[in-house]
Amino acid sequence: RPVLHVVGTRPNFVKAAPVIAALRTTGCDQVLVHTGQHYDARMSDVFFRQLGLPEPDTDLGVGSGSHARQTADLMVALEAELTARAPVIVVVYGDVNSTLAAALVAAKLSIPVAHVEAGLRSFDMAMPEEVNRRLVDQLSEVLFATSSEAVGHLCREGVDPARVHFVGNPMIDTLLGHLDRLDPAAARAACGLPERYGVVTLHRPANVDDPEAARAAVGALSEAAAHLDLAVPLHPRGGAALRAAGLADVPGVHLLEPLGYMEFMSLVRGAAAVITDSGGVQEETTVLGVPCLTLRSTTERPVTVTHGTNRLVRHEELAPALHKALVGSVTAPAEGPPLWDGKAGPRIARVLTQWLEHHG
Ligand code: UD1
Ligand code: UDP
Repeated sequence: RPVLHVVGTRPNFVKAAPVIAALRTTGCDQVLVHTGQHYDARMSDVFFRQLGLPEPDTDLGVGSGSHARQTADLMVALEAELTARAPVIVVVYGDVNSTLAAALVAAKLSIPVAHVEAGLRSFDMAMPEEVNRRLVDQLSEVLFATSSEAVGHLCREGVDPARVHFVGNPMIDTLLGHLDRLDPAAARAACGLPERYGVVTLHRPANVDDPEAARAAVGALSEAAAHLDLAVPLHPRGGAALRAAGLADVPGVHLLEPLGYMEFMSLVRGAAAVITDSGGVQEETTVLGVPCLTLRSTTERPVTVTHGTNRLVRHEELAPALHKALVGSVTAPAEGPPLWDGKAGPRIARVLTQWLEHHG
């Protein structure tokens, strides 16, 4: 019976690629199911192409909807898929609705769940991702953590420590695996940016869904753009709201379509600073040593802050914090956080192989 991976969104693809590649070398039978939560070519296909992911065995084509509708549609489609494929274990990634739906369906079908990126906690239940993470961790039999803080959260929540494996960060495997082929100069030129520029990504509901929040974000970015030209690849969520709030008219702001992985990471690598509310981008900037200003009041990735590259900022703090970052007063160790070394995929594959020997 196969190991079945469920992916559905951009961050899932980046995390799953090294796990699938590492398991392939063990000869293990694998099935890849794409839920279709992200479906635009720029949000999905480009990652499969650039990251060497295999074609999905199935694309469930679920698409967008309210949380209830999307999660329900994901569950109905996944129930049929998991029943037909009868996998030995289901591997889920991160904290998106596809992750929760897959874990819930598998648990109800008595199929064990392995969770990659377990134990992250923002302690903010207003974030849909925090709800998803907590539930998925409770439903999982094998839990893979990216940091010792995450291990601590799981143990405090009563998860048996024998089921928790501190393996490092597969998203960083993908980054380190592509580092040599990143081309910041070409990416910058393709976007018409000056030599010194920043990169911005915003898509958290708290920052973009409400027109007033979008206006506040655009106000903060306008002040920031007075210091530094900003490349802003717009996630489809909130793109319209940010435009309506006037982002396109801000001098120094370069609005872009969502970028492919290679183009995006090339731009980030060459950036003087990054402004974001993304989870993954906080981690990638940590390893690249690029100053990151996170427009949020919490982070589930505190190691990026203690490491020295990331800082949480309120809107009114953004421009002064950017100024500080640009004069070079942000310092961080050359080495990334523990086990963010590009070998998380093989560690996960090793644990899963041992698990299969006992349960497969
Ligand atoms: C989802 C995740 C979020 C993650 C983000 C990564 C949940 C609850 N949220 O948010 O944690 O950070 O992915 O990128 O799972 N849309 C398109 N094209 C697409 C996909 C979406 O236009 O290919 C638009 C649709 O209008 C949709 C909206 O974006 O309603 C939001 O998409 P959805 O998948 O619900 O959540 P994200 O905001 O992408
Ligand atoms: N990313 C990309 N192009 C973009 C924006 C992001 O390739 O235009 C990549 C980047 O590696 C990032 C990952 O997609 O870490 C996940 O991004 P996102 O911010 O959408 O999700 P989150 O990590 O917040 O869940």
